[in-house]
Amino acid sequence: MTRPYNFSAGPAVMPEAVLRQAAADMLDWHGSGMSVMEMSHRGKEFIAICEQAEADVRELLAIPAHFKVLFMQGGGLAANAIVPMNLAALKPGAMMDFIVTGSWSQKSAKEAQKYGSAAVAASGADSGYTAIPAASGWQLRDGTSYVHLCSNETIHGVEFQQLPDLKAMGCDAPLVIDFSSHVLSRSVDWSRVGLAFGGAQKNIGPAGVTLVVVREDLLGHALPICPSVFDYRTVAEHASMVNTPPTYGIYIAGLTFQWVKAQRTGELTGVAAIEARNLAKAQWLYDFIDGSQLYVNPVDPACRSRMNIPFQLRDPARNDAFLSQAKAHGLLQLKGHQSVGGMRASLYNAMPVEGVHALVDFMRTFEQTQA
Ligand SMILES: Cc1ncc(COP(=O)(O)O)c(C=O)c1O
Repeated sequence: MTRPYNFSAGPAVMPEAVLRQAAADMLDWHGSGMSVMEMSHRGKEFIAICEQAEADVRELLAIPAHFKVLFMQGGGLAANAIVPMNLAALKPGAMMDFIVTGSWSQKSAKEAQKYGSAAVAASGADSGYTAIPAASGWQLRDGTSYVHLCSNETIHGVEFQQLPDLKAMGCDAPLVIDFSSHVLSRSVDWSRVGLAFGGAQKNIGPAGVTLVVVREDLLGHALPICPSVFDYRTVAEHASMVNTPPTYGIYIAGLTFQWVKAQRTGELTGVAAIEARNLAKAQWLYDFIDGSQLYVNPVDPACRSRMNIPFQLRDPARNDAFLSQAKAHGLLQLKGHQSVGGMRASLYNAMPVEGVHALVDFMRTFEQTQA
């Protein structure tokens, strides 16, 4: 069976090898006589699955020992509340500063207002979120509990190519990153990060798991109103099993981690191999868009996302024809987010290079024949 190429922003394309493995394991995982869905989360089989998943993601992202890895629930939007409930009280005044570079960081800043003094320290709104404001102009407050940014804005297609070094900027607060839509697509400089969170449904697995990586010294500061199941210290103390975790999602995440570990590009392996491939994929599409008369991507090349590439047709009257013909060519879910319109191609880890080539070939033919 040939599967079409799926450019959805999330839930999104999964590695075919992972889906096949899950299908093979469906009725009987490793001779246990059970599907993973049927296992107790406290049984030795599932505990082994969870421990392996944690070990693999630690290895892939080179997560230092003084960070905890948590598998939680609620997705990115719940994290917008869970993070302030855990970190707002790090310093008196419960101040939290946000770098707003698109819809997702904007939502984070809004939600945090419920838990303290949340302020926008910098915003890309003036540019229509097509650029990241220069760090030299960020209005970080003295005594802020943490600084939040979304390291890849899934809707606007804006990605930090380098995380800010807050210490060098004279700010001793921890940096919180929402890496939902580019986790595992590139390495992370943990020396600059206090906490990272990401929903699984782009590069990790099915919706329902939220990966949290948190520095140990940030545990134990939760507000009294924080539900126990969302208190990072409690979750860490119980190895993500305070209550029933999203077991099947963690299992698929584990298979995906193993798939990433097995990736090779030349001499490179794992995340480095994936990153090289992602760069080549994104470059292929951006170069084509920039050279065309019909398509346009408005984002500053310095912060263009490798994962989510929004583009407009200069003649929006052609949008519907573009989408229906793309679908007929086996290129699915290219419609842009309703807030920005146009198109969006998400090129997550599991999107093969061939999928991007097929998309560009289609776009070229459409431009030549239909526009
Ligand atoms: C960067 C980012 N953050 C947060 C979210 C919200 O995630 P969820 O729908 O899992 O709450 C998304 C969803 O696409 C996202 O792309």
